[in-house]
This record gives sequence, structure tokens and C-alpha cells, in this order.
Amino acid sequence: MRSSATATPSWAALRDRSPHLLLVGMMGAGKTTIGRGLAARLGRALLDSDAEVERSTGRGVREIFEREGEGAFRREESRVLREATERHDPSVIAVAGGAVLDPGNRALIAAAGLVVWLRADPDVLVHRVGEGLGRPLLGDDPKEAIHRLYEMRAPLYASIADVIVDVDGRSPSEVVDEIASRVEDPA
Ligand code: S3P
Repeated sequence: MRSSATATPSWAALRDRSPHLLLVGMMGAGKTTIGRGLAARLGRALLDSDAEVERSTGRGVREIFEREGEGAFRREESRVLREATERHDPSVIAVAGGAVLDPGNRALIAAAGLVVWLRADPDVLVHRVGEGLGRPLLGDDPKEAIHRLYEMRAPLYASIADVIVDVDGRSPSEVVDEIASRVEDPA
């Protein structure tokens, strides 16, 4: 991680040098819901990478995975991330869980703003994603898949996160409050 979650002064420094607020973390961590709340609270646009892929291709995430394969989806994902991070207006960017696999994406995300890892315990994530409907990587054993993906990805989220916010046992609005108040008044 680039700085500690408890090193409060870093929020001010980071906010000043960082135009965007980027949410990273596993599927089921609440990136879209928390991103929506943060965008409303901070008066910023929300860009959700999955939603942007779907909007720009006219296809669902699952459909792209099934028809064209994961590689095609990842290319679209990298493209929308690049476009989102190039936006001039400071925005909230919800980055889909697998985008961090690509080193180029990681560099882009880390350079684009304040990166918040919404960290959740894998067992909590399993509960939240339920049957995994609409999530092509979960297959028929979401529990095994989530644990495996978490092991592989946690170090990648950690490597680009400026701050870690634990979301277990907290409502989305509590998490929004914590992040927004620290961005608005970081002292
Ligand atoms: C994926 C996460 C999903 C979506 C796709 C692949 C992943 O996004 O992009 O199903 O590899 O973790 P969310 O993290 O928004 O659920």
C-alpha cells in the first residue's frame, strides 16, 4: 500500500495532487453502490467501468465473456479505464474487480488519483455475491472462486491503494460518510 489507512494527513496531500477518486476491490465489495453515494455527496460524476463497457459496446458483461472471451472483455475494460482516467473533471471511478490484473491498468489507476481499496473478508464477499448470477468468473462454485481470486488479487489491490477501507459489517452509507468526510475535510 502506498500509505496507511490511519495516516490522516495523507488524505489532504493525496486529494490535492489527485483529481479522481478510484474505488478498487473485489466483486461484491460495494464499489458501485458506494461509488454512487460518493459521487452524489461530492458532486462528481460516477464512472463505473462495467457500466461503461456495457454502454459503449451495447452488450452485457456476461454476454461479452461468453461470446468473445475474457480477453475481449479485458481489452474493453482497459479502454474505458483509460477514457475515464483521462477525463478532466474530478470524478469517482468504480473500477471492476479484475482490472488490476493488467499491469498497465494498475499503473493507470495508481497515477489517476486517490485509490481506495474497499476491502472485505472473502466469506462476506461470498455471501454478498450469492449465486454469482451475472458474474461469469464465479462458475458453479462461487465460494471457491472468490477465495481463489481474493488470494491472487489482494496483493494487487494493496500495491496500488493509497488507503484501505474495511467494509465488513458496515452499511454503504457509513462507508460513503467516512470516505467523503475525509476527502472533504482531511485535516
Ligand atoms: C470481474 C468483476 C466484475 C466484472 C466481471 C469480472 C472480475 O465487476 O467486471 O464479472 O474479474 O473480478 P465487479 O467487480 O464490478 O463486480
